[in-house]
This record gives sequence, C-alpha cells and structure tokens, in this order.
Amino acid sequence: MPDSRVTASVNICVIGSGYVGLVAAVCFAEMGHLVVCVDNNEDKVAQLQRGETPIYEAQLPELLARHRNKGVTFTTDLAAGIHPAEAVFIAVGTPQGNSGAADLSYVEAVVSQIAQVMNGYKVLVEKSTVPVYTNEWITRCMHRHGVAPEQFDVVSNPEFLREGTAVGDFLHPDRIVVGANNERSADLLRRIYAPLTEGRYYEQADALPGPCSAAEPAKLVVTSAQSAEIIKHASNAFLAMKISFINAVANLAESVDADIEDIALGMGLDARVGPRFLRAGLGYGGSCFPKDVAAFSWVAEQQGVDFRLLSEVRKINERQLDLFFEKIHSALWTLRGKKIAALGLAFKADTDDIRDSPAIALIRRLLDAGVKVTAYDPAAMAVAQRALPASESMMYAADPYAAAEDADALVILTEWKEFASLDLHRLNRALKFPILIDGRNLYSPTVMRDNGFTYVSVGRPAVYASTQGRPRRNPAE
Ligand code: NAD
Ligand code: UGA
Repeated sequence: MPDSRVTASVNICVIGSGYVGLVAAVCFAEMGHLVVCVDNNEDKVAQLQRGETPIYEAQLPELLARHRNKGVTFTTDLAAGIHPAEAVFIAVGTPQGNSGAADLSYVEAVVSQIAQVMNGYKVLVEKSTVPVYTNEWITRCMHRHGVAPEQFDVVSNPEFLREGTAVGDFLHPDRIVVGANNERSADLLRRIYAPLTEGRYYEQADALPGPCSAAEPAKLVVTSAQSAEIIKHASNAFLAMKISFINAVANLAESVDADIEDIALGMGLDARVGPRFLRAGLGYGGSCFPKDVAAFSWVAEQQGVDFRLLSEVRKINERQLDLFFEKIHSALWTLRGKKIAALGLAFKADTDDIRDSPAIALIRRLLDAGVKVTAYDPAAMAVAQRALPASESMMYAADPYAAAEDADALVILTEWKEFASLDLHRLNRALKFPILIDGRNLYSPTVMRDNGFTYVSVGRPAVYASTQGRPRRNPAE
C-alpha cells in the first residue's frame, strides 16, 4: 500500500501548541505532512524541542517521539513557520471575556503577526473555537494590515477532540468540518485530510487503531464558513445541554427515590437519545463547555435570537455543584475543622487539565468552610498545586488510601477509572468514618452498604452504614 506519509504532503504551520495545536501538529505529521508548530511560550517550545510533552495526553508522547525533528518541528519564530506553509492553522486560546463573549484578542494578535510576514498565497485556518463571523473579521484584519485579497483565504475547520482521547479523536474523527467560501481553499483542506478521508492512513501497518478504517474512512463535510463556526458552538452547547438535562432528571430522581443510572440506561437505549453524555454528576467543567455555552449565548443575543435554553443549561450546571456541596454538608453535620479526602482534581478523567474543574471549585468551597482537604489525582497534582498551594488546610497525598487516612469522609470528584476499583476494605479502615460522597456515581449503593459505608451519590437513594443512621437535614438549609 502507498504510504500517505510519503505521498501528498502539505506544508503546514500550526500556531499554538496547547491541547489542540500540539495534538493537531503531531497528528498532521502522523498523516504525512510537514509541520512547523509555533508558540510564543518559550518554556513550552524548549520542552517540546527536547521531546517532552507539556500536557498529559494518551499516545501523544509516542507520536511526538515518532515525528519530532522529522515531520514536526517546534519554534517561537513565527516567520520560520509561516514562510514555507500553504496552510496556517490558528489554535490559540479563545477564553471567556467579561460579557460572556469569546475573547478573540489572541486570535487577532496572531492574525496581525501573520500579516507582517506573508510571502505568498496561504490559507488561514480557524482551528480555535470562535463565534460566527470571525472568518470575516480575520479577512478584514488581514486587509487592514495591507495584505491583498488574492494572497489568502480564510477557512473554518473547528476541532472536536476531547481531552484524554485527543489523539484518537483527531485521527479517527466522527467528522471533519470545513467551512470555506471558495473551492480553492476547500480543496487544500481536502488534500490535508485526504489520508483520513480516503482511508490511506488506516492501511498503514503502524497506524493508530480506532473506529475509522480503509473501508469506513473519516467523513468530511464542506459548508460555508458561518455554518462551520456555528456547528462547533452548537455541538458543544448541545452536549452541555445533554449533561444538564440528565443532572436535572437526577435531582428529580433523588427526590422520588428513583435511580438515575437506571433512568439513563433506559433513556439511552433509544437510538434517538443515545447513551453517551448522560452521566449525572457534579456538572460539566473544562476549558470549553462553560465558555462555549456563554459565547454561543452571546452570539444569539447579538443576533436578537431568543435562546434562553442556554442560560438554563448554565444555571442547572452551576446549581449542581451547590447541591453536591450541600450533600457533603448534610452528611457531615458541620464542616468547620472536619477533614475530607478528595479524589480527583482534573475536570475529567485522563487529563491533567484543571481549567474550570468542578473538583477545584468544590475544594475551594470546602476550604472556605473551614475544612481541611487532602487530595489525590493520578495526573493533575502538579498543576493543581499551582492553583491550590499546599498548606496546613490543603494537603496532597500519594494515593487514595493515604488521602483517606483519618478523614471524616471521602469525596469522589473526577471519574478516573482507578477510583472505581478501590479496595473498599482498606478504604473503610483508613477513614475515621466510612462516609463516601460520590460526585461521579462510580459505585453501586448496595455494594457500598454491604461494605459498611454510608454512601451518598447523585440521583440515587443514599445508603447508610448500620452504625451511622440516616442524618436529618441540616437546620441551616
Ligand atoms: P491552550 O491554552 O492549551 O493553548 C493555546 C496555546 O497558544 C498556548 O500554548 C499559548 O502559549 C499559545 N499562544 C497564545 N498566543 C500565541 C501567539 N501570539 N503566538 C503563538 N502562540 C500563542 O488552548 P487549547 O485548549 O489548545 O484551546 C485552543 C483553542 O481550541 C480554543 O479556542 C479552544 O476553545 C479550542 N478547542 C479546545 C479543545 C480542548 O479540548 N482543549 C477542543 C476543541 C477546541
Ligand atoms: C468537549 C467535547 O466533548 C469535545 O467534542 C470538544 O472538542 C471539546 O469539549 C472542546 O471544544 O474543547 P472535553 O471538554 O475535553 O471535550 O471533555 P468532555 O468529555 O466533553 O467532558 C466535559 C465535561 O463534562 C467534563 O467535566 C466531564 O466530566 C463532564 N461530563 C461529560 C459529564 O458530567 N457527564 C457526561 O456524561 C459527560
């Protein structure tokens, strides 16, 4: 079989080497392209040049080792990245601004810098998540900096990868969306993704395995730039809505002694609903759902479209953390001076990312209430210590059992697999009281009761260790 890494290579520049930029750069190299990845963070670039991955992401170190200094190089020199490139992917942050709108200042800064060093026709590709019409703003910005219209096109190519499975998601995507307003630029994107859409990549002996194959290759959808921009926001907002929906149902289930896990199973078996993203818990976090729901809401407001559904999605999500905090409070009667073991710091499993992590927000609230917290996370401890420095009240443990030692209760905040298979006997002995408050529904209440725990979870009846008794609600509530 022909090797897609030898045929049809495109010179690509990726600007930004974060979760999206770095994964895209390394995966484009894996697909056979020649990539220069540019970042203005000197430390990050130095780390990457040494072959170290600055983020915790499965399969990334292996692919980086395979392609570093061959298919992909790293630099802080923007011109060195731009000059050879036919396509320039912009993958810098678009955080939430004060009004809820996306802050596009990093994108604008990059576009201005690109304009200064243009040396021929290029396609600028929006990979960052941006509001509709950003495509037009980028075009206008290039013109303002004196770049002639025939020197460039702007294309939207939103990214749908999830942290923790980013490499697999990139190379085996559910779909690739290209929003282009002319055929010339759409064709370049088709060429770039051809190893995946024509299935050639999946025939290679060392291709990363996944759901796509030569027989069922990745699908590429070409739309207008505006439609592509909206596809990204609408997809994230829809997934966030699914999570808020199941959390609202969980709260209802709890008040009538029903079980949200059974309900989600029963709902998810309907192919029109689907089983994914129906996990009730602490609510969604991360660097994307909260800011993208806010940004999409802002877009609707700007266009005079009534989309209050999105505010409800956000409100349910925020309330979910309040409810969980109240559960801990109820289970422990009073909080000041109590010692709580917290399992999980990352915003989800399989990542070290703590941006907008519900776990970090919850721990902050516990600390504010005078609780002493001992936390453990398999990947996010180093990053978390920058946000929550170790102190007399905030401690870090080497494993779940050390965190649990002499604690009044243990809370599960992140859905790491290893938290779902703890040695319950050992945990019970380590804790001062066998109380487990699970924000991710990792255990069966019956199993927990049989192991002597008081177990409180989300959307399911709580069970009580025989010695503990069912607490009354706090009078303060
Ligand atoms: P990130 O913060 O991890 O990475 C952004 C990188 O851009 C940083 O390394 C930063 O140093 C660099 N940068 C900023 N300004 C620069 C400049 N002028 N020149 C060169 N480099 C510069 O962000 P991320 O999580 O990768 O997200 C990037 C974009 O992709 C956002 O719009 C986000 O919404 C979107 N997105 C993220 C994910 C995800 O899972 N994280 C998934 C899909 C889409
Ligand atoms: C999400 C989307 O899934 C990606 O498609 C998208 O590209 C990305 O945002 C983005 O635009 O940045 P990610 O934030 O990495 O990916 O993680 P998810 O797996 O979607 O989880 C987001 C949050 O929702 C986490 O806090 C997770 O714990 C929570 N979640 C997820 C639930 O509470 N219940 C669920 O059923 C699923």
